[in-house]
Amino acid sequence: MRRIAISVAASTMTLSLAGCGVLNATGDGASASPTKGNDITVGLLLPEKANTRYEKFDYPIIKDKVAELTKKQGKVEYANADASAARQAEQLQNMIDEKVDVILLDAVDAHLVAPGVEKAKSAGIPVIAYDRLAEGPIDGYVSFDNELVGEVQGRTLLEAMGPGVGTSDKIVMMNGSPTDPNAKQFKEGALSELNGKVDIAQSYDTTGWKPENAEANMAKAIALIGKGNIAGVYAANDGMAGGVIKALKAAGVTSLPPITGQDAELDGVQRVVSGEQYMSVYKSYPDEAAAAAQIAVTKIQGKDIQFDALTQDRVDSPTTKQVPSRLVQVSALTRKTIKDTVIADHIYGVDDICTTRYKASCAAIGLK
Ligand code: GAL
Repeated sequence: MRRIAISVAASTMTLSLAGCGVLNATGDGASASPTKGNDITVGLLLPEKANTRYEKFDYPIIKDKVAELTKKQGKVEYANADASAARQAEQLQNMIDEKVDVILLDAVDAHLVAPGVEKAKSAGIPVIAYDRLAEGPIDGYVSFDNELVGEVQGRTLLEAMGPGVGTSDKIVMMNGSPTDPNAKQFKEGALSELNGKVDIAQSYDTTGWKPENAEANMAKAIALIGKGNIAGVYAANDGMAGGVIKALKAAGVTSLPPITGQDAELDGVQRVVSGEQYMSVYKSYPDEAAAAAQIAVTKIQGKDIQFDALTQDRVDSPTTKQVPSRLVQVSALTRKTIKDTVIADHIYGVDDICTTRYKASCAAIGLK
């Protein structure tokens, strides 16, 4: 997707016209779209709770940002689908029935949700795909550069396996949910780094991104490959890295191979500190969530100039071409980069990470 994301000359042009005073630079009222004031309701549909990012970061940040952008008059109506596509379809229908003004949708199943997106569209409610590219007639998309996430994971795994890494080294791939288009992009990005460099001995897609499913698949992989023959594990996120580590320990592995992750979850970061997990990927939730809130609010308030400025990338979904999008950058989180990522961005304080259990490991890497 990164490769097809392009800037759009048209919106740049509009911006420079605004700068010349030809158009109203604030965008207020200078639009053909139906405009609303600050008294708006943003519907927010998030996919699951097993991963802590959604309730710890995405929801509260979006809520605060919507309040800030609407002088505390706008509100967020939130529902979490607990990894069930059927539940999410009901939640989406409820929001349409309640006539929310705009919907931010992080789909459990990007394909199955399309009829719901169609219904919202027919009811005049714009839908902005959040984090995962929902199918159907969406008005915008905010996410991270997901292929880059996979590349960073693959590259860092090879680095951890050392300079002697070769095609006789067996790794296991624990990919995300097959209903999440991000999972496919993470996998493709990782494969672009790993193919031809190591032996991918077993590869699994993980239903619902569930750590317990990753744990069960890892137990199968250990039985097939042998516990002493696994030189590395690509785990697509931190939750699943936790499941993989449980399975390895249960099989009696004492010296863990390098294992990847994603999301900079607190326990993932602590495992990176202690050396149980080699890396995670830090994705700036404040940047993604704040952009989503701004895009939703400018869309519904008809501030087209700002909306264009916020969505200068273009992305194609299987059903919809050239979706106005914003893709936020990511970076690798290893022992060396904890300070420059999650600490610098105030996601966690040193005290959150360096609890009694991790004090010695923190001291060893100079985290204080
Ligand atoms: C992905 C998301 C990741 C992770 C995963 C499991 O779509 O980009 O950050 O949270 O889902 O929920």
